[in-house]
Amino acid sequence: MTNSYRAAICTALTGPDSVKIEQLPVKPLKPGEVRIAVQAAGLNFPDLLMTYGKYQFRPEPPFVPGIEIAGEILEVGAGVKDYAPGDRIMGGSKGNGFAEQIVLPMAAIRELPSSLSFAEGACWHGAAITAWHALNDKANLSEGETILILGASGGVGMAAVKLAKYKGATIIATGSSDEKRQAIDQAGADHSLDPADPDLAATVKKLTDGKGVDVVFDPVGGDLSITATRAIGWGGRYLIVGFASGDIPSFPANHALIKGYSLIGLRAGESGRRDPILAAQSNKSLKCLAQEGVMRPHISHSFPLEQAGDALRVLEKREAIGRVAIKMTI
Ligand SMILES: NC(=O)c1ccc[n+]([C@@H]2O[C@H](COP(=O)([O-])OP(=O)(O)OC[C@H]3O[C@@H](n4cnc5c(N)ncnc54)[C@H](OP(=O)(O)O)[C@@H]3O)[C@@H](O)[C@H]2O)c1
Repeated sequence: MTNSYRAAICTALTGPDSVKIEQLPVKPLKPGEVRIAVQAAGLNFPDLLMTYGKYQFRPEPPFVPGIEIAGEILEVGAGVKDYAPGDRIMGGSKGNGFAEQIVLPMAAIRELPSSLSFAEGACWHGAAITAWHALNDKANLSEGETILILGASGGVGMAAVKLAKYKGATIIATGSSDEKRQAIDQAGADHSLDPADPDLAATVKKLTDGKGVDVVFDPVGGDLSITATRAIGWGGRYLIVGFASGDIPSFPANHALIKGYSLIGLRAGESGRRDPILAAQSNKSLKCLAQEGVMRPHISHSFPLEQAGDALRVLEKREAIGRVAIKMTI
């Protein structure tokens, strides 16, 4: 084993331009840890926010971004029983993923099923658990219900489209270009609409025979959220997932009262940390879904490690469709 490895390092909180490749020393493993040869890292919106110091978790530079990876185990620390060198795994962390190697605690990794490639595995779990927690635990989306999915060309939005399809719902989704709407249709949406259309709420109402949708999945925020509340039906469930637009909406409480809908905030990762029983149930369900290849990510852009900054810029310029991945071999 070499005594150093390459990593993409955020050197200042000035965004993707500050990301540089450097060598880092290999450190000895602590008990319960595993060393992984990273084969692919999936990009997430928080990676971009962290390079500006704008995410809720705010590491100080220099730091290695990258919260999702897939790869092969190189070495296991004392006490690690369930994994061995050579095992294909996917893993999550608060950072350090944009690198040739990463060390993770055993609890942060899971088997990468043969149904998923390394790049798909690196882009699978975070979006999948968010879509699962939202549609299953929070909205209890049922077969035959109608859901409006905003930002459906994005990482969590597209996972939500695929999961809603799997659950038998009718899906209305938004995408801001023809190319994005085409990808959303291919992912399983029944109707894809332009979020900038001034008649968006009326069109959604028309598509639902005037009733409005049962569930809204909103990772975008801003004015689009307020438009979406006009398209929700009586007694609906409005899932507050994120604010990719950078704008936090203020929902009119009287409107929620009049239409009897619920505003439901969610944090997929935090829910699992606070509720170990829920986490165990989710892990069991997600293991089966991963094996079946449900929510297989669409990866529109792949970059080598040395272009990690370019990879982050794709997210910043809103060009990604589905996911962006860093691959150690392209
Ligand atoms: N609550 C949770 O547990 C949880 C978990 C994971 C992620 N999140 C949050 O969910 C949000 C989306 O994450 P993601 O990974 O899906 O991001 P993403 O892949 O970048 O997708 C975001 C989507 O939002 C739309 N969008 C609208 N305005 C945008 C803007 N100004 N900049 C970028 N995108 C814009 C884009 O679609 P159009 O171009 O079609 O509008 C884009 O496809 C983030 O805020 C993230 O932090 C929350």
